[in-house]
Amino acid sequence: MALLPIITAPDPRLKQVAAPVERIDEEVRRLMDDMLATMQDAPGIGLAAPQVGVLKRVIVLDLAREGEEPQPYRMANPELTWVSDEDASYEEGCLSLPDHYAEVVRPAAVKVRYLDHEGEIRELAADGLLATCVQHEMDHLDGILFVDHISALKRNMILRKLLKAKKSSKPAREHDAAHAL
Ligand code: NI
Repeated sequence: MALLPIITAPDPRLKQVAAPVERIDEEVRRLMDDMLATMQDAPGIGLAAPQVGVLKRVIVLDLAREGEEPQPYRMANPELTWVSDEDASYEEGCLSLPDHYAEVVRPAAVKVRYLDHEGEIRELAADGLLATCVQHEMDHLDGILFVDHISALKRNMILRKLLKAKKSSKPAREHDAAHAL
């Protein structure tokens, strides 16, 4: 497994719409495994293919904490089949927006249909942090970042700081694993 470089905002590659995966083959499986390794190394609890420069509808998640049994999800072409009327707010972060966090409101529970790494159609019913995480990663497939859900004022402030950090190429601090999606 290889560790892939993670693209940080602002970057036009994070604003593009990713293409569906046509079939689950060795290449897609390798991408999923490399993404999981990259995410765990970061560390984070979710990662979408566009964040590593691959414009395919592939996401991975693993909410297990250090010392817990891994619970990896490998998803291709995820689609929401149901969302709850009830909303929930979580403080979100993102491996592509290091060191920045904001409260984001999303449906509290969702159902997601996807293809797993063996090409099987599966459905996940998620609530709590898993629901937030899967919606956050699916947003990446449509070029949407968590800051697109908050006020323009706050978004621009975060993006300006990221741009500044990029220009001075300061190494990013350690992420808070609980919030880095
Ligand atoms: Ni993210």
